[in-house]
Formats: sequence, structure tokens, C-alpha cells
Amino acid sequence: MELIEGKPVAQAILNELAERVGKNPASRPCVAFIRVGEDPASVYYVRSKQKTAEKIGIESRLNVLPDTISQQALFAEIDALNADPKVHGILVQAPLPDHLDERATFNRVSPDKDVDGFNQVNLGRLVQEDPSAFVACTPAGVVEMIKRHRIETAGKHVVVIGRSLIVGKPAALLFMRKAEFANSTVTVCHSRTQNLAEITRQADILIAAIGRAGYVTKDMVKPGAVVIDVGINRVDDPQSAKGYKIAGDVQFDEVAPQCKAITPVPGGVGLMTVAMLMSNTVKAWEASNR
Ligand SMILES: NC(=O)c1ccc[n+]([C@@H]2O[C@H](COP(=O)([O-])OP(=O)(O)OC[C@H]3O[C@@H](n4cnc5c(N)ncnc54)[C@H](OP(=O)(O)O)[C@@H]3O)[C@@H](O)[C@H]2O)c1
Repeated sequence: MELIEGKPVAQAILNELAERVGKNPASRPCVAFIRVGEDPASVYYVRSKQKTAEKIGIESRLNVLPDTISQQALFAEIDALNADPKVHGILVQAPLPDHLDERATFNRVSPDKDVDGFNQVNLGRLVQEDPSAFVACTPAGVVEMIKRHRIETAGKHVVVIGRSLIVGKPAALLFMRKAEFANSTVTVCHSRTQNLAEITRQADILIAAIGRAGYVTKDMVKPGAVVIDVGINRVDDPQSAKGYKIAGDVQFDEVAPQCKAITPVPGGVGLMTVAMLMSNTVKAWEASNR
């Protein structure tokens, strides 16, 4: 069984990006973050993205807005960043407070600065297999892991559990592209899927993006399959100082021994998301320099 760890893959990507950034000393990429309110998870995520950016020579800005901000005022903030030629990437940290429309907010970001890949134009570009598309970072990270571990995907049956716009749907679109490390036969499952285990047992590559700790058990996985666990779930753990631990969607201990390859949680896909955000930012910067 091969363990597909996120750290070495993410580090290799970051090293390559630092080199690309260093090639043009006249300009530096800049990513702007918008954070609405003080949600502790959002504070943590934005900070860690900024730290990674700094390490590889990407500038970052942070606009913190009150959680009472109106939709129009949020749009005005985004419009100002869209118009600023010094800003190459814009990320509005989700989740937003309930009174704000997340979809409209993501669609307001200029498609050419949409480094999160959530804008409808980039989703359309992905469907059209346009290489200029910014692809959502987590599924893009899954493809990078597959690619750098040279896992054969052409003609293979990829089963994705989950159909969210952030993970499941773009993952399915990526694997069905007419491209290297794609060309797969893709099945997408969700909460209304019947006989889920029967379908997942047919997967050569199984991607779990459900959000339920340990949902994928041994009997749902074909021996010799590749299993990519996207889930990040908090489960109670009285033995840990924090009182919880992070678990994936897959029962790692029982599934791993029968896999060809598997990603751990933590230490797997989660580490790829920030690396792919940096990759999208450098791509946006390079496109703006052309
Ligand atoms: N590694 C990372 O950096 C990263 C990034 C993003 C998300 N995640 C993690 O990935 C997981 C999924 O995230 P998400 O944003 O895609 O979540 P989401 O929007 O809640 O989507 C979950 C998907 O799973 C499906 N589902 C739920 N219960 C199911 C069941 N019993 N059987 C089959 N399908 C079921 C849902 O079906 P319906 O559509 O029918 O509701 C939905 O399509 C979460 O654990 C999240 O924390 C990790």
C-alpha cells in the first residue's frame, strides 16, 4: 500500500512557484483576502494562507470587514480590488454571514482574479476545458497528487462521493477531461444515491468528499483501489488537549491495507489546498504580465 502524503507534493509545488516568482524581480504577485467577521476558523485559514504566500514571495493584503456589512458594501470592496492593477488574486473567505449571498459574492470577483475558482465563468471554462480556467483549489490539489504519484487515470472508473461546487462537482469535471491524468469514466454519488456501496466497490479511484467521519468502510472499497479522502471532520477525542481530533471520511485503519494507494487525514489532501491557491495566484500574475 502506497501512502500519498500531501506535504512532499505541496512542498514541491511551492518550491516551483517560488522559482517562477523569483524570475521576474520587477513585479510580485499579490493576493487580496476579504474576511467578513471574526469566525475563528476563518481567521486561522486566512492567516495560514498569508504565511504560505509570504514564504514564496507572494504579497498579500487583508481587508477585514464587519459581519454587519451589507451586500452592496461588500460588492464595493470587491469592485475596488477588481479594479486595482496591483492585485492579481482575490479570495473572499467562506463561510459568509447568513445575510450575505455567497454565490453572488463569488460571482462578483473578476474571473481573471478568481483564484478560488468559484466564479461561474471559471466553472464554465472548466466545463469547456479552457486552460485559462482557475480551478477550485481542493479538487485541483487532488489531481496534482494523482499526477505526481503517476497514478493511471485513463479509462479508469473514478467514483466521487459528493457533488458540492467546491469539491465534488469540479473533481468530477477534472477527471472526465480529455487530458493527461484525466480521461476517466466518472460516477458522481450523493446523499440520494441508492446502493452506494455497490457503486463505490466498482471504483478504481474513489474520492470521498462527504463531510462524515469514517463513512467509507472496508466493504465499500474494491481491493487494489486508490482512495482519496477529502473529508476534514472534527470528532470528539477526550485524550487530546483540544478535546477533538481531525478525521477523514474514510475508516483509514480498515481500508488502507486493501488499497493500492490512499491519502491520510490529516496530512493528505488538506495540505494541497493552500498550495493550489498559491499556484492560481502565480498563474493570475503571469497572465497579467503578458
Ligand atoms: N481538504 C480540504 O482542504 C477541504 C476543502 C473543502 C472541503 N473539505 C472537506 O471535504 C468534505 C466535503 O466538503 P464539501 O464542502 O464538499 O461538503 P458539502 O458541501 O457538505 O457536500 C457534501 C456532499 O456529500 C454528500 N453526502 C452527504 N451525506 C452523504 C451520504 N450519506 N451518502 C452519500 N453522499 C452524501 C452530499 O450530498 P447532497 O448533495 O445530496 O447533499 C454533498 O453532495 C468536508 O469534510 C469538508 O470539510 C476539505
